[in-house]
Amino acid sequence: MTATGKRRILVTSALPYINGVKHLGNLAGSMLPADVYSRFQRLRGHDVLYICATDEHGTPAELAAQAAGISVRDYCDEQHEIQKKAGEGFELSYDHFGRSSGEENARLTQHFANVLEANGLIEERVMEQVYSIDDGRFLPDRYVEGTCPHCDYEKARGDQCDNCGRLLDPVELIDPYSAVSGSKNVEVRETRHLFLRQSEMQETIRDWVEASTDWPALARSIALKWLDEGLRDRAITRDLSWGVPVINPDGSVRDGFENKVFYVWFDAPIEYIGATEEWAKAKGNPDAWRSWWRTDEGADEVQYVQFMGKDNVAFHTVGFPVTIMGSKEPWKLVDQLKAFNWVTWYGGKFSTSNKRGVFMDQALDLLPADYWRWYLIANAPEGSDAAFTWEGFQSSINSDLANVLGNFVNRITKYCASKFDGKVPAAGDTGEAEAWMVSELETRLPQLVQHYENMDFRKAAAETRAIWAAGNEYLTKAEPWVKYKNNVDEAAIGVRTGLNLAALFGIIAQPIIPEAAKMILDALNIPDANRTMTAEGLSDVRTLLDALPHGMDIAPPDVLFRKIEDDQVAEWTEKFGGED
Ligand code: 2FM
Ligand code: ZN
Repeated sequence: MTATGKRRILVTSALPYINGVKHLGNLAGSMLPADVYSRFQRLRGHDVLYICATDEHGTPAELAAQAAGISVRDYCDEQHEIQKKAGEGFELSYDHFGRSSGEENARLTQHFANVLEANGLIEERVMEQVYSIDDGRFLPDRYVEGTCPHCDYEKARGDQCDNCGRLLDPVELIDPYSAVSGSKNVEVRETRHLFLRQSEMQETIRDWVEASTDWPALARSIALKWLDEGLRDRAITRDLSWGVPVINPDGSVRDGFENKVFYVWFDAPIEYIGATEEWAKAKGNPDAWRSWWRTDEGADEVQYVQFMGKDNVAFHTVGFPVTIMGSKEPWKLVDQLKAFNWVTWYGGKFSTSNKRGVFMDQALDLLPADYWRWYLIANAPEGSDAAFTWEGFQSSINSDLANVLGNFVNRITKYCASKFDGKVPAAGDTGEAEAWMVSELETRLPQLVQHYENMDFRKAAAETRAIWAAGNEYLTKAEPWVKYKNNVDEAAIGVRTGLNLAALFGIIAQPIIPEAAKMILDALNIPDANRTMTAEGLSDVRTLLDALPHGMDIAPPDVLFRKIEDDQVAEWTEKFGGED
């Protein structure tokens, strides 16, 4: 933190796999909360860098390209653009949305592997892997399926059993078959790979996790569970052609690794750094990434926050930190990890083939981004999984956005337009109703800030709503429309306070519903510089309630939110699934 109290905050959200547009659950568990947090911290006046990218390597991309009959590079080019567009549609305010298949990531990945090897943390080992004779390829991890040796579940994947949650080695599966072709004509063959000796780092990682007491609870508990099970050495290369080549420090291809590349989970987190380099290059200052990532060049002052779904926690609390710490170089480590449970579709899985659930591109064809953003943050899967239901969505939008926020802004701006010539009234003195509102805000605004600082997204949305609801209660107490009949000045104070509240409601709405917030703030002519949520700006509530210049013109905004009707719910349930 600098002397002015300005913090430098690096935010990353788990990199979405390149294959396929993400569904609302993926959005809610990483990119959306990272965006809301970034927006909030920018509004606080901090220097935020929010980095994300597509995670492009690995077998799924290779197979998808093969199925589409195009090269993997072309496939990734196309899919990256689609995901980028979906992110823009959802107003995700990345400073950079990069690509893990870029040259920066390749160079960094190769660098890390070479220093880890020099430090004795990587060694070549011969391992056994499942080879599919009919597919003519080794089957990595999840492309081998079979029966779980621990719980007898018959559709366990080679890397993990979805039934008992255990991490597996594909060769442990009973009756394995190829998930690519279904062929049972598979055999175990020997192949050489590089192994990251994670077990050597067990104590270092445990000490670090135990010292990280300010991580939100879910990430910490998952990390400790992994450590209790003991860290296993992991193969970090694969028999594939699409990925980062394995090279020696002199740039030549490593002997015996001509047809192998690094494992996608080894290079993907390194892309957080790679994408920051891409960002720096794009803004014409190629070294600008260093002060975010090199602790010897300023990054020791950076607060680094990662957002991810719970299945990613192990890779971020064990795998990536082993890479970073094992390098013995001054790289920035994560300071706080915010992990999420799943958003389910009526308690089950999202699935394109079974028409269950809404995907990011489809969602925006139905309703503006703000509707989804609000619902997914207000119902963030924090304490447990959270089921999306159309009924819950309808009720949250109609009540929170249309009734509580939309009506307030509408009512007060329209009344001002009709009775006060669309100008902020100057007359009138504050009384009991205003004093009540001041005390509400003096309690609630600091709570709101605290919820965001703690990354408690449900609580932040609930507090935002409670503040909007208090505004409605204020209008019921102040009754400008009743007072207008006898004393215009007494009505004026209610209208002025109401307009200032509308501005404040727009300001605090910005992290979650940026488009609607902008409509409100534009209608009230709030200059950009006054749209912040700085500690100073929020501290004097009385000033906030009389901030709009007296006599300034305002105009009622267009309808902010349209209610979701029952027939829309029926139509969408039919199309995307609902209660079985
Ligand atoms: O689970 C996933 O979607 C992965 N693509 C996340 C990668 S996060 C990171 F480390 F890059
Ligand atoms: Zn199992």
